[in-house]
Amino acid sequence: MRQRVGRSIARAKFINTALLGRKRPVMEKVVDLTDLDTSHTIQPLLKELETVTTEARHEVLQSVLEIYENGRNPDGPTLTKEFHKMYLDVAFEISLPPQMTALDASQPWMLYWIANSLKVMDKDWLSDGVKRKIVNKLFSISSSGGPFGGGPGQLPHLASTYAAINVLSLCDNIDGCWDRIDRRRIYEWLLSLKEPNGGFKTCLEVGEVDTRGIYCALSIAALLNILTDELTEGVLGYLKECQSYEGGFGSCPHVDEAHGGYTFCATASLAILRSLNVINVEKLLEWCSARQLQEERGFCGRSNKLVDGCYSFWVGASAAILEALGYGQCFDKNALREYILLCCQEKEQPGLRDKPGAHSDFYHTNYCLLGLAVTESLYTCASNDPPHKIKCIPNRQIVSSELTDVNPVYGLPTENVRRFIHYFDSGLPP
Ligand code: FPP
Ligand code: ZN
Repeated sequence: MRQRVGRSIARAKFINTALLGRKRPVMEKVVDLTDLDTSHTIQPLLKELETVTTEARHEVLQSVLEIYENGRNPDGPTLTKEFHKMYLDVAFEISLPPQMTALDASQPWMLYWIANSLKVMDKDWLSDGVKRKIVNKLFSISSSGGPFGGGPGQLPHLASTYAAINVLSLCDNIDGCWDRIDRRRIYEWLLSLKEPNGGFKTCLEVGEVDTRGIYCALSIAALLNILTDELTEGVLGYLKECQSYEGGFGSCPHVDEAHGGYTFCATASLAILRSLNVINVEKLLEWCSARQLQEERGFCGRSNKLVDGCYSFWVGASAAILEALGYGQCFDKNALREYILLCCQEKEQPGLRDKPGAHSDFYHTNYCLLGLAVTESLYTCASNDPPHKIKCIPNRQIVSSELTDVNPVYGLPTENVRRFIHYFDSGLPP
């Protein structure tokens, strides 16, 4: 018994101190400005403020600059599509290796990352055979048609249901699979997750409440056409309070540091609710813009942290949503494209990665490809149109990788989003 208590305490400490993307202790030094007469005095001060992160950034910067120096190629950088396809196709053919058991509770996520990456590279690369495998797997997780857990026998969860619905939208109603989704049941379940503060628990039995839960719930509901006032009550108030003094969004009201992942969740949710006007959009644009690191050319996820390919989507799509809604472009798309193509790909290793030196994985492959698609398009949306009608126009200032157009709110090909929502046009079944 004592041992179990000890383990719970250790786990609680982990949750409080080490949760991804959560607030870090502030490093600060109070300086008397009258002592700061010339710019060279700043260097010793910066030295005193060095941390593991500033050292790590220095190392990453060296390797990135070396790649840019050596990577000059008259044809420009290109996406090695066929090479990445091999990596993704294999995932549907073999048993995944034991080191991937940590992803046992993320099975719908893996299906989404892999299937979406294939679709984004080429709209015909997701074969009917693979779609059938995906559908069988998903309905083995929930034979009643949702909500979905992370794997067979696991509790229904917002994030896995979000990923499951996304991947079903990619399966083009093969064998009538869209009729097997129990929208009424999913709707009742979403309602049961609602909290008095406007947020959603990620899981009925036990689950955190933050902007991720809101985005997952709204995205599921919008895609299945079950978004009601009852479901969205209180959500705007919650989201408004997550915008930090920096302009980006943290995970929970007031407490957290602005972070690319949570900023995407909040921005996309506000777009679904068509309510971006309730927040400080100018500050959000500034924040997104400041995430692009001048030398690395890619995005970091929060102030003074390292560049990472997945923020090409989390931050790039937040910016693309603002662009679609008429707030203008706030980052250098060409520079981001160079980071993705030169630093997130490698000749010897298929798939895309976070940064030089890292291994590729399905998560980064998907979000780097989505980010690349964002750089190669311009976005518009008619003022009264819902976000599934966002339009993509080829960005003529950039050499095209001929990717499928992507909707930045849903992280899915625009055509799949439209067809899926249209299929459920009739509203909520009785
Ligand atoms: C890293 O935190 C965290 C991530 C790379 C994930 C962030 C993404 C989200 C919160 C979005 C989730 C979206 C959905 C739809 C559920 P870190 O502290 O390790 O990395 P950092 O140093 O880059 O901040
Ligand atoms: Zn990443």
